[in-house]
Amino acid sequence: MKALITAGGRGTRLRPITHTNNKHLIPISNKPMIQYAIEAVAAAGIKEVGVVVNPETVDELEKALGNGAVWGVKISFILQEEPKGLAHVVKIAQDFIKDDPFIFYLGDNVIVGGIDRFVKAFQQDASDCHLVLSKVSDPHRFGVPEIKDGRIIGVQEKPKNPRSPYAVTGIYIYNQHIFEAVHAIQPSARGELEISDAHQYLIDKGFLINYSEVTGWWKDTGQPEDLLEANRFVLDQIIERPHSQMTAGEVDSQSELCGKVIIEKGARVINSQIRGPAIIGEGTLIENSYVGPYTSIYHDCHIKNSELEYSIIMERCKIKDIDIRIEKSLLGRDVTFLCGKSRPRTQKFVVGDESRIEL
Ligand code: DAU
Repeated sequence: MKALITAGGRGTRLRPITHTNNKHLIPISNKPMIQYAIEAVAAAGIKEVGVVVNPETVDELEKALGNGAVWGVKISFILQEEPKGLAHVVKIAQDFIKDDPFIFYLGDNVIVGGIDRFVKAFQQDASDCHLVLSKVSDPHRFGVPEIKDGRIIGVQEKPKNPRSPYAVTGIYIYNQHIFEAVHAIQPSARGELEISDAHQYLIDKGFLINYSEVTGWWKDTGQPEDLLEANRFVLDQIIERPHSQMTAGEVDSQSELCGKVIIEKGARVINSQIRGPAIIGEGTLIENSYVGPYTSIYHDCHIKNSELEYSIIMERCKIKDIDIRIEKSLLGRDVTFLCGKSRPRTQKFVVGDESRIEL
């Protein structure tokens, strides 16, 4: 079995972060999001992984993932010139997949609990397609199955009137019949080759589609709030150990760490309070500050005289002398957040396109 992981698309819902970064490299608990997908397929015993990339960020992805050897897999990069839909992704990966069965894994999905049981179910049922479903409160945002007598009898993409409370998650397992489907379907009204239409094609042609339900936790990290929630959930999974085992960096005697807090190597905490679950990245300096639960601060940041909670801070950010608590925030790379002391006390901004500021 092979794996095909997406890392392309436009990432429009995560702008401005995705103006300059590939969204699949946004850190969740200080690990690039796509790494969760790679680790999950590697844990399921898969050795050959195709990663679909767009021309704008192919270099960034190649640099971040290399050849996959660190995860015990071989990564091949597959270029999708334009984001023409998920079924189009499958279509252009046919030369890489050949006749093997494969897992199609959307690189912006985070699932806890692994995928082994889905692979086993696909193999045991000898089905043509295995879908992984999750009960959600907002099915209209997803592909939605219609289920009758325990069988999927239809799949609709982002329907106005969903026929079940389930989302089809971004983890699919196929045999070679999916290629017949992706070649046969036509672009949807929004101009994409929809993976849901390929599933509907398989159903209409009488192929065997089975499904499993996610019992643990799953998230499609389409929007900033989803990223914060995924970060919260993954941080919650940190297993508490003695502080000495969770602290590779330096913490001075004036500081207090409370609960599940990871201090990565080269990080320093001075006269500060950190309440977990939280993670402080390599080379980051926290001085005279408070870092509250569900916060991830990535590499080489500097936080001074400030308070932060429930946030993701990407690499090399500087936050200094901010006298209100920063909460529910997502800061991209190299962001500077300062409090000027000069009079008149005005607010000054240098903000990129599509940024969002709530004062
Ligand atoms: O997350 C589950 C949902 O994913 C499913 O329920 C939907 O049926 C499915 O269509 C998909 O919906 P999204 O609107 O979330 O798809 P999105 O456009 O965000 O793309 C998902 C992933 O695929 C993401 O990693 C970006 C990548 N992608 C997307 C397109 C359209 C590509 O690599 N190339 C593309 O052409």
